[in-house]
Amino acid sequence: MKTLIVGGGGFIGAHLLEEILRNHRNWQVTVIDINSEKISHLLLDKNVKFFEIDIVRNSIEDHVSDCDVMLPLAAIASPAVYVTDPLRVFELDFEANLKIIKWAVKYQKRVIFPSTSEVYGMCADEEFLEDESNCVTGPVSKQRWIYSCSKQMLDRVIYAHGLKNNLDYTLFRPFNWIGPKLDDISNPESGSSRVVTQFLSNIIHGKDIKLVDGGNQIRSFTDIADAIAALIKIILNENNCATRQIFNIGNPHNQTSIKNLAQEIVELAKKYDQLKSLAEKTKIIEIDPNEYYGKGYQDVSCRIPSIKKAETVLQWTPTVSLRESLRKIMDDLFKKNASSR
Ligand code: NAD
Ligand code: UGA
Repeated sequence: MKTLIVGGGGFIGAHLLEEILRNHRNWQVTVIDINSEKISHLLLDKNVKFFEIDIVRNSIEDHVSDCDVMLPLAAIASPAVYVTDPLRVFELDFEANLKIIKWAVKYQKRVIFPSTSEVYGMCADEEFLEDESNCVTGPVSKQRWIYSCSKQMLDRVIYAHGLKNNLDYTLFRPFNWIGPKLDDISNPESGSSRVVTQFLSNIIHGKDIKLVDGGNQIRSFTDIADAIAALIKIILNENNCATRQIFNIGNPHNQTSIKNLAQEIVELAKKYDQLKSLAEKTKIIEIDPNEYYGKGYQDVSCRIPSIKKAETVLQWTPTVSLRESLRKIMDDLFKKNASSR
């Protein structure tokens, strides 16, 4: 199978590529990205071709026409940027990806598109359901929603091409996937990365952990190994089970408040020789969302997926607990030099 991964140098792409090269040796993979740091160790493999291409400025039509299945993963996925640079988010997450979807329609290629848990926005359902829950966003002056709206619009465009043009697609909705290589741990600046990396980076750099709005928000964290297992099932698409379907890929058992997450990370960090004294000194403080992200921010107070559909249709169930997942991230960072944990 010829697989095209656009944005394949990122967090999800790097883990997916590793898994494909480990267990799917008959797949040929083309990766497009502007950055290959996270996957540089994989690029000598004969099954991989890497192209450094900026998809905002350049066409990748030839690559789309040449593949069997495509995963367009390139996007800006950091909430701070939705607020500070909403047009850049729209340009990449919506406009550049729309062009790719149109080529997929033109050449009748299968598309596996990363929607997001963020499309449900401030939906009040206890658990979000792919085909029933409402997508609820805030006012235009809250730029945070430009990411959610860009993704939702693409979901709707892809869905419509499925109906009108027989496009073979699957939309998957990641719920806070976490793991090694998530974001840049070396940058402790507030808002520079997603929350797990941010908190770890704060500890490593001797900075306070800041709880936006008290940290009562709930997220459901999903280990990247579980997530990649689901993605592989979607790519394999046995009996076309995933064709023209939407799947939440999340772990409802790992739901926790951000405050609890901060405490867990600090406690776990104390068990690592390199972090012990820093973690003991780390303060967890509260911060006003406007001060942290700027006025265009609005938070999602509770986000829990229903994964019944993925469990039934894909025969997939996540198994990695939040604690185990955090431990894997820290073991990767500190190469298992830890004392007893
Ligand atoms: P990531 O930021 O780690 O990876 C994105 C990749 O896109 C990066 O390697 C980046 O260099 C590349 N890229 C950026 N601009 C580009 C351009 N102009 N041309 C080519 N490549 C470019 O993100 P991720 O966590 O791997 O997420 C992948 C996809 O999944 C995104 O669409 C994201 O919105 C979606 N998603 C992720 C999560 C999650 O939990 N990680 C949750 C919901 C949705
Ligand atoms: C994320 C991002 O939008 C995307 O990566 C993705 O599409 C989606 O959700 C997902 O992963 O499912 P969010 O969970 O709000 O959105 O982003 P994080 O940066 O991971 O923050 C999680 C929560 O922690 C937010 O409530 C945020 O306000 C809070 N936070 C973050 C803090 O309290 N302190 C910090 O220093 C950073």
